[in-house]
Amino acid sequence: MKDEVRAAVERVLDGGPYILGQEVEAFEREWARFCGAAAAAGVANGTDALALALVASGAVRPGRRDEVITAPLTAGYTALGILNAGGLPVFSDVSPDTFTLDPRALERALTKRTRAVVPVHLYGRMSEMGAVCDFARRHGLLVIEDASQAHGARLEGRRAGAWGDAAAFSFYPTKNLGAYGDGGAVTSDDVRLIERVKELRQGGHPSAMGGDVAGRNSRLDEVQAAALRVKLRRLADWNRRRQRLARTYGKLLARGVKQLVLPSTPADVNSHVFHLYVVRHPERERLRAHLAARGVETLIHYPAPLHTQKLFRRRGQYPLPAAEQLTDEILSLPLYPQLRDEELRAVADAVLEFENS
Ligand SMILES: Cc1ncc(COP(=O)(O)O)c(C=O)c1O
Repeated sequence: MKDEVRAAVERVLDGGPYILGQEVEAFEREWARFCGAAAAAGVANGTDALALALVASGAVRPGRRDEVITAPLTAGYTALGILNAGGLPVFSDVSPDTFTLDPRALERALTKRTRAVVPVHLYGRMSEMGAVCDFARRHGLLVIEDASQAHGARLEGRRAGAWGDAAAFSFYPTKNLGAYGDGGAVTSDDVRLIERVKELRQGGHPSAMGGDVAGRNSRLDEVQAAALRVKLRRLADWNRRRQRLARTYGKLLARGVKQLVLPSTPADVNSHVFHLYVVRHPERERLRAHLAARGVETLIHYPAPLHTQKLFRRRGQYPLPAAEQLTDEILSLPLYPQLRDEELRAVADAVLEFENS
């Protein structure tokens, strides 16, 4: 796709403008259509997308420390987005089977100050949105999806980004849809909410600081939007490749595993686009060293649950045993669309060698 990306970038360089021009507008239309949402707003990154969606939806009001329930097993940026909006992240446990918010646990996190739920579609797997949305509706809460790891995932025919009152996406380069730098977007069916995000991403008001809310400076640039438009045309193919690689891992690894736990398959297979392939192992550190010695890089997403981290710790937080145990056992094996079949087999062989040693 090099030539296509180069041509798109050169079009921007030759023509200008470089920020919030016609490439951003076109990408916003195409991204909204792809997600099945009415509108989208391009912003500087996924953390800002979440913060701006929370403010624009009215979920978090200035100076009120409104509470937002989210998962403790996610990138710290999820909770940072809530803090940056002026809200207070409140953590509710995940299900060990899905790695996403356990809808049955949500009730316990509820207080008089709760205003919204931020389900995180972790590792590419959509949260149990039917149950999460039911819970939110029963308690008058807004739902803002953190869809930064689930571009293109589809649950019951509806894409990530089209379930909540709004959704936040990151286009960090390693995401399923990644830019050549930072980028993010908010999607929503509420066109006024998206218009509000477009004000807030430029200081708070189009006529610059004339409004009553301090916005931020969080704009998507034209070069990134032009490149994202090229890559968007390939997203569905890349997601299918990711799903195929995950199935192959599943088949190869299921043969000889003893203690290894493979990711479960959701009933709706399209609701998981395998941003990451995350296994569990009680001897995670030894397995990791074994793989490293064979040239296989692994990562841990994420090494500590957020409710135990200094920045997000708060009084009255109860234990979240599933998230705590998972962070000790999870390991991300290599998976990305360009991974070759023989490379995947070599990784699987190295894992099986450890299991049978
Ligand atoms: C789940 C999740 N939320 C939010 C973010 C923040 O996105 P960004 O790095 O673009 O600010 C990321 C990625 O880093 C993420 O994985």
